[in-house]
Amino acid sequence: MADSTPQSQETLSNLLHETRSFPPPADFAANANVKADAYEHAAADRLAFWEEQAGRLQWERTWDTVLDWQAPYAKWFVGGKLNASVNCVDRHVDAGNGERAAIQWEGEPGDSRTITYAELRDEVSRAANVLTELGVGKGDRVAIYMPMIPETVVAMLACARIGAVHMVVFGGFSVDALGQRLDDSQAKLVITADGGYRRGKPSSLKPAVDEAVAGRPAVENVLVVRRTGQEVDWTERDVWWHETVGGASSEHTPEAHDAEDPLFIMYTSGTTARPKGILHTTGGYLTQTSYTHWSVFDLKPETDVYWCAADIGWITGHSYIVYGPLSNGGTVVMYEGTPDTPHKGRFWEIVQKYGVTIAYMAPTAIRTFMKWGEEIPAEYDLSSLRVLGSVGEPINPEAYVWYRQNIGGGNVPVVDTWWQTETGAIMVSPLPGVTSAKPGAAMGPIPGIDADVVDDEGNPVPDGEGGFIVVREPWPAMLRGIWGDDQRYKDTYWSRFPGLYFPGDGAKKDEDGDMWLLGRVDDVMLVSGHNLSTTEVESALVSHPEVAEAAVVGAADKVTGQAIVGFVILRGGGESVPDELLQELRNHVGASLGPIAKPARILAVPELPKTRSGKIMRRLLRDIAENRDIGDTSTLTDASIMDVIAKQLPK
Ligand code: WT7
Repeated sequence: MADSTPQSQETLSNLLHETRSFPPPADFAANANVKADAYEHAAADRLAFWEEQAGRLQWERTWDTVLDWQAPYAKWFVGGKLNASVNCVDRHVDAGNGERAAIQWEGEPGDSRTITYAELRDEVSRAANVLTELGVGKGDRVAIYMPMIPETVVAMLACARIGAVHMVVFGGFSVDALGQRLDDSQAKLVITADGGYRRGKPSSLKPAVDEAVAGRPAVENVLVVRRTGQEVDWTERDVWWHETVGGASSEHTPEAHDAEDPLFIMYTSGTTARPKGILHTTGGYLTQTSYTHWSVFDLKPETDVYWCAADIGWITGHSYIVYGPLSNGGTVVMYEGTPDTPHKGRFWEIVQKYGVTIAYMAPTAIRTFMKWGEEIPAEYDLSSLRVLGSVGEPINPEAYVWYRQNIGGGNVPVVDTWWQTETGAIMVSPLPGVTSAKPGAAMGPIPGIDADVVDDEGNPVPDGEGGFIVVREPWPAMLRGIWGDDQRYKDTYWSRFPGLYFPGDGAKKDEDGDMWLLGRVDDVMLVSGHNLSTTEVESALVSHPEVAEAAVVGAADKVTGQAIVGFVILRGGGESVPDELLQELRNHVGASLGPIAKPARILAVPELPKTRSGKIMRRLLRDIAENRDIGDTSTLTDASIMDVIAKQLPK
């Protein structure tokens, strides 16, 4: 691949010079759920180790075989039967913990709700009964397009209970994105809300659903939660949540599902414009999310208050707001809104109010808080915190140290957790009671995971060298494929290095053999921890009548990790391009893909740099976008193009 610079040279050399490391506090280490022997124990017999972890769950029928591996397809806990919703809800009630808070929910306007495990069981049961009445059965797909409210969790667990496959679409996505996912998954029910609160006012969801389902007869019903009370259009396919779920019976006898029955589909961006429907199944996924949530965060369900600030519309929300924490019987804080509404101390106010002990968030949020200043968190009592986590993109050492110091009071373990939508659960991370963590390093594979850094040929690199991260052995929460596209599954993950899973990230091993993740090596951008494909944004740009051609890159950005910069060739060319048009193009992308995909900058250029095989040299555009000297142009069809582009740029 010509275009595979994982990260700017500057960042890489910063990382190479990072020598700090923070051992776990002695009392933490002494009381930790997982001790150092876990690595050896897991390595001695990996399958026995995962079998032991599966034993953390309640099974209706025990598996016959731990792993059936027909590369690249894995089946875990074959023959086993269980119900994910029973594992996340009923069994905690049955164990006498019905009065424990499952969800501590905080609405953006300041309203709040505590939902105990007993209440959650009743609500999930009611919703399951309603789904069945609406004709949703085992294997049917249900789209969930919701704000961050407890009903979102209830809807997911109700699907899991009856064996329907949920497909959550992030509420910030547009009509088109929702429509594309409805087409691909052929969902027959959409669960949504009138809207939710964001940035101090109600934002709507139902109109997008109305538009998306209008030409899609596969969707038979739309189940609508009333959250904001705003006016909504109504058709005969629409059903109110409070009128149906509200009055339904809370008796529901769950059936056990096969360990390999699909649990959910989560779409993620690939290197083409079409998102990939990542398929996860039941037994293995729940085993690894449960184990990692307990081990990586050192969860003590009786006493901890755990908060993950991600949205449920992303895999982080699925695995570490819903399935991991609830399968462990933990108390989960859930927040509806934005971190600066109504003030920039909102997150820390939440930590103080609920006595949060474990917090998990993205580097982009941490960098934003850094920018706002340490005097803001300093106004709150954050002494309840005992573990901090980071996820979504590489965390730069400065942000890591700031987080540890200003949020963690300088004495809590910070775990930098590497994983993906596809891996389903954490793969590489320090263990808070074991690892002396280095700021910015995910350190090493967790017990039971066989990941490594390899060179171009797939051979392990020696300590001190860089390459690509791969996973050598199948793991319980691994994706079971791409919905409806087996070929793409093989091509995307299993063709780069024969026999190895290739996640698409660059990585290095330092002199101690510890692992540092260096960002994507493909055309996927990471904007505020969200995975977006360059092609997706390019397609949105060229769908505008004024745009002839477009190239998009993720340029390093202090706050968002990467910022989207678009280069467009306009139809009819023209010397001076009005700012209004460039603004209109940005809005056009925002409207077609959702606000997070809106480019930070768009530059009109006369030509784009291409290789002889016609591949756009995004590396060179990234050089421009990051104000660097332009690198090697030898594979370009015409090197003078770069001069022409550079001349065109605003000085
Ligand atoms: C990509 C996956 C994991 C859930 C949220 C994102 C990047 C994720 C880290 C980390 C360095 C990270 C990778 C990965 N990534 N966590 N701790 N350090 N990079 O899920 O949208 O599927 O994105 O996020 O590049 O491939 P996703």
